[in-house]
Amino acid sequence: MYYDLHAHILPNVDDGPTEIEDALQMAKISADNGTKIILATPHRKDVAEKSSVLHIKELANSFNSLLQENGINLQLLLGMENHLDLELPEDFSNGKALPINNTKYALVEMPFFGHPNYLEEVLFQIQLQGITPILAHPERIEAVQLNPRLLVNFVDRGMLSQVTAGSVVGHFGGNVKKLTLKLLKMGLVHILASDTHFHTGPRSPILIEGLQAATSVIGQKKALAMITTTPKAVLEGNPVILPQIQIDSPKQSWWKMWNR
Ligand SMILES: [Fe+2]
Repeated sequence: MYYDLHAHILPNVDDGPTEIEDALQMAKISADNGTKIILATPHRKDVAEKSSVLHIKELANSFNSLLQENGINLQLLLGMENHLDLELPEDFSNGKALPINNTKYALVEMPFFGHPNYLEEVLFQIQLQGITPILAHPERIEAVQLNPRLLVNFVDRGMLSQVTAGSVVGHFGGNVKKLTLKLLKMGLVHILASDTHFHTGPRSPILIEGLQAATSVIGQKKALAMITTTPKAVLEGNPVILPQIQIDSPKQSWWKMWNR
C-alpha cells in the first residue's frame, strides 16, 4: 500500500479538478493503483486568494465522507503546496501556510524560474521554526537544473526532496528525466509522489510506473521506501532515515549536463 504526499485532488480550490466527480475519479484511480493515503496539497496562493484554510479543512472532511459513501478505499489527509516567498515563515506561524498533516514537515515549492536572493534564507528560517522543508519536484525547478549542487546543500542541511513520479518516466522531457535519474543515484530523492492534477496525463494519480523506473536505477528496496516507509514516517511526524549522498568526482562534471 502506497502513500502519495503531493496531490491536487480537492475540487475547485486550485488548478486541480473543478468538479467533485473528477476528484472522485482521481481518488478511485489512486486507490485502484495501490495508494492507501493521499495528501491533498492545494496551492497556498490559491487558497489565500480564492478560498481559505477553514474551507479546505472542511472540504477535506467532506471529501473523506464522500470517499466512504462511494466505497473508495482511500484516506485523504491535508497539507499544502507552499510556494516559497518572503511571507512563508510568517504564514507558518499564523496558520495561513499548512504543514503536512499537522506535523513538523512541510511541502515547499521553490520558484520554477530564477533564483531569488532570499531563497536560501527563507528555507533556513523555516528550519529555525522547527519545520523540515520537503522540496517539491526539484528536478523541475530551474535553479536546481542549472546548479544541482544547490540540492546537495539543502539535503546536507536536513531538507528532504520529493520527485514527481512522471519525471522518472520522462513525462516532463528528456532533460528532466536525465536529471531525475542522476538525483536518484546520488541519494538526493527521498519521496516519490504523483503531484496529480487530473485522472489522466503526465500527472495522473498513478505511482507504479515511476516506482518501476526508479527501481531500475536504485533497486526495489530504496525505490519502494519512497512511496511507503518514508512518506508514512513523514505523515506520522517521525524522523526519516536519509540515504548517504553520493557525490561524483569533479571530473565527471555532472552538474553541467543540463542541455538548453
Ligand atoms: Fe503541485
